[in-house]
This record gives sequence, structure tokens and C-alpha cells, in this order.
Amino acid sequence: MTAPLIDPFQRAITYLRVSVTDRCDFRCVYCMSENMTFLPKKELLTLEELDRLCSAFIRLGVRKLRITGGEPLVRRDIMTFFNRMGRHLDAGALDELTVTTNGSQLERFASDLAAAGVRRINVSLDTLDEAKFARVTRWGRLPQVLRGIDAAQAAGLRVKINTVALKGFNEDELFTLVEWCESRGMDLTFIEVMPMGDLGGEDRVGQYWSLKDVRARLADAYTLTDLSERTGGPARYVRLGETGQKIGFITPLSHNFCESCNRVRVTCTGEIYMCLGQEDMADLRAPLRAHPHVDGPLEDAIRAAIDAKPKGHDFDYSRQRADGQVTRHMSHTGG
Ligand code: GTP
Ligand code: 5AD
Ligand code: SF4
Repeated sequence: MTAPLIDPFQRAITYLRVSVTDRCDFRCVYCMSENMTFLPKKELLTLEELDRLCSAFIRLGVRKLRITGGEPLVRRDIMTFFNRMGRHLDAGALDELTVTTNGSQLERFASDLAAAGVRRINVSLDTLDEAKFARVTRWGRLPQVLRGIDAAQAAGLRVKINTVALKGFNEDELFTLVEWCESRGMDLTFIEVMPMGDLGGEDRVGQYWSLKDVRARLADAYTLTDLSERTGGPARYVRLGETGQKIGFITPLSHNFCESCNRVRVTCTGEIYMCLGQEDMADLRAPLRAHPHVDGPLEDAIRAAIDAKPKGHDFDYSRQRADGQVTRHMSHTGG
């Protein structure tokens, strides 16, 4: 038996988020700048290298694998990779293979994802208003994403909507979003906006809408019951008594959840980031490429990285400024 991955704070690392591309067909304002420079192809891990890397993590105890980006479904031939990962589900080594997507390519790929063993996907969507959608994603078009969600549900995938709560942007859509998700049988999770990337002209503190307030507004209209069930991610869930639907809250600012962190991230160039909210990282591509036929050095590098996992992020808006900011864009590590 190989020893599981345990970090210095006694947290078992069982969840790996892998960003397979830094590219995206949208330019969400809180995630990327409008003029991004993308990595040259030779910097990227090949699909074979991604396979070796994920398989090493799975051998070391990872049970949940989430594919992210950029937008993961714009990477060429990405279905080959999903199909390869399906073998770990079949073998019972992995509990869940899943993806976080902007939904733009789902019309094309939903049934392939289902065939590869994906059961559940998270789709990012902050507004149901076409003009606002175009504004927040800069390049996105809402009808295309809605068709993608239709395709996902038709393929039998469970869909969870991820909505970044943004003051003055989607406050007025709280109930519309909740009702829309209910009518389509989808769960909904709200996320507090984090100070990541080149904030440039962005006013994060001004955009920040605490989920404590979101919860209070929901409690005015619905009976909320806290749920103890977890999906292995950072969200905490409530059930709305009147509709039975599940609403999640991801609260890095208003209620820190780092204590129970179970995850690390790997970028498309093979950097491992031990915490979303810190700059600490290590290179896994060098041991992967230097030893094409043995995984020992790669596994040693993974263990060394986990030994250096920080306690948590330092995001904080309480002084009316964005403290704990991380300069890399969210798209670098896929959230
Ligand atoms: P489920 O399997 O549905 O629980 O997914 P998840 O919440 O783990 O994944 P998802 O990709 O939907 O994550 C939603 C967002 O939550 C991410 O994009 C981040 O914005 C945020 N998030 C996820 N993990 C962390 C974390 O470790 N720290 C912080 N600060 N935010 C996180
Ligand atoms: N703060 C919070 N969530 C963010 N996301 C992207 N950038 C940020 C940010 N600065 C979310 C997206 C998507 C997921 C990948 O991360 O909306 O749901
Ligand atoms: Fe792309 Fe998602 Fe980032 Fe938006 S949030 S720019 S869809 S990776």
C-alpha cells in the first residue's frame, strides 16, 4: 500500500483539480483580462503526460478528479483524455470524474462526457440576462450556453450552476436564478468573488456581495435547512423547504473553509499549486519529462509539494481593500 497524501495540517488530499488549458473562449471580467497572452503549445503537458500525472495522484489516494481550464472543453482532443480517465472509474480507483465549464462547448461534447463516465458537471453562469451575460463574460453568448445546458441534461448529466455573487450585477436576479434552477432540476451554488488576477480597474471590494446576505435574503422567502452532505468541494448546502432544491454557498471571504481543505491544483504546464489563494507552487513537469518510464521521481515531487501546502488563503476585504490578493488570474488554476 502506498501511503496517502497528508499535508502538514493533517488534511488528507483526495481531490485534484487539473487545468488542461489556459485558453478560454470567454473573458469573464473577474477571471481574465481582455488581452491575455496564452502559453505556447510546447509548454503544455501532452494528453499522455496529463494521464501519467493524474494516474500518479490517483495511486496516491486522490478519489475525485475535476477537469478545469481556462475552458477545458476548448482543448483539442480533450475527449481522448476523458475517455482515458474513465478507466480509473471502472477500476473503482476514482469516485468521481467531473468538469467545470462555461458551457459553450456542451452542445458538442455533453454525450461524449456522459459516455466517458462523467455524471455531474458544474456550469458557470452569473446571469440570465443576455446583455448582462455578454458584459460579464465579454465574449460569451447566453443562448449558446443555454443550448449547452439543454444538451447536458438530455445526455443525463446532472448540472450544478455556479454563480459568482456580484453586488450591483446579479443581486436583482437572486430569485430568478433560484427559480430557474428549480424549474430545470439543477442545483445552484453561489461563490464570493475573490481578489485574483490583475485587478486593473476592477473594484473587488465594491463588487463583493457577502453570501451571508444572500442567505438572509433567501431565508426571507424560503425555509432553509442546513445539510450535512458534502460533494467533496468547499460548498456548504441548504435545502429550500418549499421547493426541495439544494443551494450551495462557497464563502472564502465571509466564512473561511480552509481548515477542511482536501485539494490541490495542477496547471496545464504541470505546476502544482497547493492553495488557490497563495503563490506557493512546485514544478511537476520536470520530473515527469526527465523520467518518461518511471513515476517514482514524480511521486516524490508530489509528496514534497503536499508537505509544503499552506494553511489557507489570506483573502480579506474587511479593511475596505482587497487584502491577500493573488496576482495570477483565476484561469491559470481553474478556480
Ligand atoms: P463540487 O464537486 O460541485 O463540490 O465542486 P467544487 O465546488 O469543488 O468545484 P467548482 O469547480 O464548482 O468550484 C467552484 C469555485 O469555488 C471555484 O471555481 C473557486 O472559485 C471556488 N473554490 C473551489 N475550491 C476552492 C478553494 O480551495 N479555495 C477557495 N478559496 N475557493 C475555492
Ligand atoms: N472569484 C470567485 N470565483 C471566480 N471564478 C472565476 N474567477 C473568480 C473570482 N475572482 C469562478 C467562475 C467559475 C469558476 C471556475 O471560478 O465563475 O465558476
Ligand atoms: Fe473562462 Fe471560466 Fe474564466 Fe470565465 S470564469 S474567463 S468562462 S475560465
